[in-house]
Amino acid sequence: MKLGVNIDHVATLRQARHTPYPSIAEAIRAVERGGADGITMHLREDRRHIQDEDILTAHQYLNTRLNMEMAATEEMIAIALKVRPADCCIVPEKREELTTEGGLDVIGMGERLIRACQELSNCGVRVSLFVEPDTKLLKAILATGAPVIELHTGTYANAANEKAREAELQRLESMAATAHAAGLQVNAGHGLDYENVAAVAAIPEIAELNIGHSIVARALFVGLEQATREMKARMLAARSA
Ligand code: PXP
Repeated sequence: MKLGVNIDHVATLRQARHTPYPSIAEAIRAVERGGADGITMHLREDRRHIQDEDILTAHQYLNTRLNMEMAATEEMIAIALKVRPADCCIVPEKREELTTEGGLDVIGMGERLIRACQELSNCGVRVSLFVEPDTKLLKAILATGAPVIELHTGTYANAANEKAREAELQRLESMAATAHAAGLQVNAGHGLDYENVAAVAAIPEIAELNIGHSIVARALFVGLEQATREMKARMLAARSA
């Protein structure tokens, strides 16, 4: 099981004061030393954290894979075609949201999403779609030709009580099994932390978790390398339990 570390909030801290620090290059090196298998950066339309320069120069520091998260807009597709990240995760984006609030409207986006997937994969980028754990979406997902999905775990993470959390976990398990059987690589992420990660990591069809906020928050006290190492250890322990 792999861990992609989302380092957006290292850039959030930098952009809060428009200082040159903390350094994205140092953050990449630290999470890789801690056992990250990939680095995720979300280039948002409003550039609230990651900047174009961060994405364009990341390959100079990376020893793993770059996963560029972005909306399926013409502007972002043009940047991705310049950057050529190993992976590109297409997410919905609303200007006012605090963070990505839900999965893609795969059915409603129709041809626009299919074209975006084709343009990216024609340039050798592996495309992932950030989706709700809803098996009714599967037909539309397969029609895009994207080889990977990332299941949105936000509803699981924010569940108000145990019953709601268990119900959402079952939706994640069912979607992971169905999508995997249909030939897709299944990843998951959003809102995962040191306490809630184990149940998701234990789902056998999930190949990779993408985690950001909780790791960067923990890094304030133990450093980014150690925070990454602790998260990876929890994932692997849950997987082998
Ligand atoms: N996966 C996707 C598609 C996301 O949009 C985000 C947040 O940017 C994450 C994973 C990481 O979420 P978190 O920061 O809550 O761990």
